[in-house]
Amino acid sequence: MNFIEQEDPDVWAAMQAEQTRQHEGLEMIASENFTSPAVMQAVGSVLTNKYAEGYPGHRYYGGCEFVDKVEDLARDRLKSLFGAEHVNVQPHSGSQANAAVYMTAIQPGDTVLAFDLAHGGHLTHGMKLNASGVLYKFVHYGVRKSDQRLDFDQVARLAREHKPKLIVAGASAYPREIPHGTFAEIAREVGAKLMVDMAHYAGLVAAGIHDNPVPVADFVTSTTHKTLRGPRGGIAMCRSADAKMLDRSVFPGQQGGPLMHVIAGKAVAFAEALRPEFRQYAMKVVENAKALAEALASGGVRLVSGGTDNHLMLVDVTPLGIGGKTAEQVLDRCGITCNKNMIPFDERKPMDPSGIRLGTPALTTRGLGVDEMKQVAAWILKVLKNHESEQVIATTRRDVAELAEQFPVPAAKLEAVER
Ligand SMILES: Cc1ncc(COP(=O)(O)O)c(C=O)c1O
Repeated sequence: MNFIEQEDPDVWAAMQAEQTRQHEGLEMIASENFTSPAVMQAVGSVLTNKYAEGYPGHRYYGGCEFVDKVEDLARDRLKSLFGAEHVNVQPHSGSQANAAVYMTAIQPGDTVLAFDLAHGGHLTHGMKLNASGVLYKFVHYGVRKSDQRLDFDQVARLAREHKPKLIVAGASAYPREIPHGTFAEIAREVGAKLMVDMAHYAGLVAAGIHDNPVPVADFVTSTTHKTLRGPRGGIAMCRSADAKMLDRSVFPGQQGGPLMHVIAGKAVAFAEALRPEFRQYAMKVVENAKALAEALASGGVRLVSGGTDNHLMLVDVTPLGIGGKTAEQVLDRCGITCNKNMIPFDERKPMDPSGIRLGTPALTTRGLGVDEMKQVAAWILKVLKNHESEQVIATTRRDVAELAEQFPVPAAKLEAVER
């Protein structure tokens, strides 16, 4: 029996439409993924009913013996995944994990050096309207114009000039591997702490494909829902010496009661990420991204930095005579979902930038491989080159749906049981 369908047909109808959209389309938003049915079941469980302010063994509410077990499992698994001395699995989101680290490491008004939003950074790395930009004094580094890779000469120069208390590494739209050790050396030289926000590529780190920042960084944060393929949420990690302060900054510093159902989902996802199959998955994510990038580049678009080392790529679509906004819209009409994105040194505006960002984590979870990536690249190029042709859009939409049909989304298994 389906309770939502019976009791709230309006919400159910919207949920069904979203399920169909996810099934019939190709999800290429780099920050999205499909959780396993087990993770989804944990998030939709009785644990949503429980208040558990505090930490395992030290709660402000009774009846926490079972949720304590869940949080301990999540913490232990996360520690083994990244080799961290201390972890906090309570942040409701990546943004709150970052806010908690700022609260732990620095004081309002302190200077922080972070990656420029316009070059691929994140809102919580000092955007003017974000709490980070309001509370702290951010200075930003970027990529070199010549090759669009991180400009470490600039990072070092700005670090010496501004003497930040904290340096932030990590990005939302940077297609190359981030050398955490280089950031650590610069931080050490100027006496700054280092925070690595690995939200986007945590899954690649968990799989041992990308450099693990935990040994060299004072603080490491992440979301759990991107390449890591868990439920929507955040995590923060640090050394034992900062453990007390970090925990205090998450609760009561930033949040009240933890979302125990989401923490259960995190525990399940961390166990999945510890399995050898997850490494295979993460390797395919990168393999698929490289195949997609190569096929796109040979078809007339420009890739920022010339390619990718990770799960995403930034595609400058202006050589095709269109902007990112039109590209996003026309691909959406074909069932290919992505987002318009600024490219470094973009001369266009944020609402209609030069690029789109494409990622492979979600498609790889569905089982698409290199051959499908080449096919998808061919469709993307055809649609972008013929963005005014209703016929091209209609046939591509049909082709996309036919391909998607062959690779069911994991939630379909859960749906089948619930029906
Ligand atoms: C690098 C980075 N940090 C933090 C976040 C924030 O995560 P959330 O949306 O869960 O607050 C994101 C999300 O896109 C991100 O890309």
